[in-house]
Amino acid sequence: MAASPFDLANETGYRAWRDAKLAAYPRSVDALVVPLADPRHLTPAELDALADRCARANMALYSAPHLPAADKTLPLQLGRQLGLVRLEGNYLADEDGLSSITPADDTGGVRGDYIPYTHKPINWHTDGYYNAPDRRILGMTLHCAQDAESGGENALLDHEVAYLQLRDVNPDYVAALMRPDAMTIPARMDEDDIARPAQSGPVFAVDPAQGFLVMRYTARTRSIVWKADALTQAAVATLAEILADSEYILAARLAPGMGLVCNNVLHTRSAFTDTPARRRLLYRGRYYDRLRFEELQTSPVRPQ
Ligand SMILES: [Fe+2]
Repeated sequence: MAASPFDLANETGYRAWRDAKLAAYPRSVDALVVPLADPRHLTPAELDALADRCARANMALYSAPHLPAADKTLPLQLGRQLGLVRLEGNYLADEDGLSSITPADDTGGVRGDYIPYTHKPINWHTDGYYNAPDRRILGMTLHCAQDAESGGENALLDHEVAYLQLRDVNPDYVAALMRPDAMTIPARMDEDDIARPAQSGPVFAVDPAQGFLVMRYTARTRSIVWKADALTQAAVATLAEILADSEYILAARLAPGMGLVCNNVLHTRSAFTDTPARRRLLYRGRYYDRLRFEELQTSPVRPQ
């Protein structure tokens, strides 16, 4: 394998990767959107267009407003064609493993105790940041069945760009956030209230087999313990500053029939208002797989 640009000792490789990354990175959310005739059956051209966006930004938005937006087979079958197969279920997920993210804070019940199931904003995070290392969430999909009356936008930032901007400020900050004890989630404190032991881990990690960068992060300040040394504290503060005003943040408002496919990039959600007659509803999928395009693109005959 070629020397990794994510190796802090590889300054030359990093520079080349960095410049190419920023040159190719989409500077408007519109550049991320790929219209799909039918997300359940991609054409080669559509697949190429999705691959292009994901190569540049680790994410793509798709749009199929002409189909019934509440059909869960749209995101499920789309994801499957992109290599997203191993879906994480949790006890708040539906039977098919997708989670219906819709407000329940005014209806009582257990879901309304957790921020995703409220009207509240959600700060920067990657999904599954509290998971054990053998259950890393590498892929994530969001499909909009119904948008809110107002609000509910998602800000998006490729985690590779967050890495890049932090490394540009100070490579020692990246090193601090690659330590296995950088960030600890105390026991029993995840958003879905599943009993878990404390989870320590790095913010940034490089997959040892395939060399891709993964990020585990939340901007929450409660229920999270950062390593107490000065370097980690400075790194966390600088990362928060980057996320507050990065010029590479892309703001998306998903309309019905639109969705996001991504390699678990950083994202937020703004607060929103809706009504019982028009409840915001997004289907979310979390996967142990990354997006995969190569096999489908290069094989004239698709493997069975
Ligand atoms: Fe999320």
